[in-house]
Amino acid sequence: MTNTPQTVGVLGGGTMGSGIAIVMAKAGQRTLLFDVKEENLQRGLDTVHGFFDVSVKKGKMTADEAEKIKANVTGTTRLADLAPCDVVVEAVFEDLQVKKDAFAQLDEIVSPQTLFHTNTSTLSVTGIASGSKLPGRVVGTHYCNPAPLMNLVEVADGRHTESWAHQATIEFLESIGKTTVVTQDRPGFIVNRFLIPWENSCITALENGLGTKESIDAAVKGALGHPMGPFELLDIVGMDIHQQVATRLYEQLREPRFYPPAMVDRMVAAGDLGRKTGRGFYDYDDTRLFGS
Ligand SMILES: NC(=O)c1ccc[n+]([C@@H]2O[C@H](COP(=O)([O-])OP(=O)(O)OC[C@H]3O[C@@H](n4cnc5c(N)ncnc54)[C@H](O)[C@@H]3O)[C@@H](O)[C@H]2O)c1
Repeated sequence: MTNTPQTVGVLGGGTMGSGIAIVMAKAGQRTLLFDVKEENLQRGLDTVHGFFDVSVKKGKMTADEAEKIKANVTGTTRLADLAPCDVVVEAVFEDLQVKKDAFAQLDEIVSPQTLFHTNTSTLSVTGIASGSKLPGRVVGTHYCNPAPLMNLVEVADGRHTESWAHQATIEFLESIGKTTVVTQDRPGFIVNRFLIPWENSCITALENGLGTKESIDAAVKGALGHPMGPFELLDIVGMDIHQQVATRLYEQLREPRFYPPAMVDRMVAAGDLGRKTGRGFYDYDDTRLFGS
């Protein structure tokens, strides 16, 4: 893989897909953002554009630079438009069949050399790769959320991932400015093995009245040096996603610390999912998925 601009497809215009599209656009990649739902695609594109508008307001780039970067991203609801892609990053629902089907359909559209990256949090890379006729090209690339602000990407091969695909993946990720950590195709990789039980313990602390959301967030940022507090982060992650990831990890690892506290179920039942619904632990004026 060369350092010249690639064409990158991103499947899914949700929290992760829009974040990954921002990363790709900023790194100068021609980026095709695909979603099956027109309204989700539109929200993803709004998030991408909003991110760069805020960057201009914060003085991080000029308006001209932002316009150039925004022009790197094109939205589509036609999978066939992804035909020229060198890399496709899958960030669709955390559902094995949906992910397998997406790669099976792409097999018929893209070149056999196109890399397939899956951003799964809890599913097996090997299982997802079995959807493709060429599982050797499939690599797990787990971006940390928010993808535009967090540098780390975990890289996990499936059983049939071929060494050229692994190597090209590391080179590609480093060429777009990411730091890679190689891990195994195991539930939660490295990051979620630590993050999910920790987030659960923060939610339990809030439920037990140990502090307010504001004081717990402030304590974590002030004492532990985290860039954002657990409730600020969970509002970006989405409570539906946290519930799903935590439950899946509990089912696979059988350790109670992964099981989501009851407050998570109540928030999901109420539709208080975080930024994407305008209310989670905090209230938001708009439903762009994250700021700059
Ligand atoms: N939210 C996080 O913090 C986080 C972090 C790392 C990884 N992940 C993983 O990233 C993936 C996406 O998570 P998310 O939080 O962005 O979810 P999300 O619900 O915000 O977005 C998913 C999007 O995928 C779209 N979609 C569904 N099926 C599709 C298909 N076949 N083709 C194209 N688009 C399709 C949906 O319309 C939706 O817009 C999941 O596998 C999740 O586990 C999430």
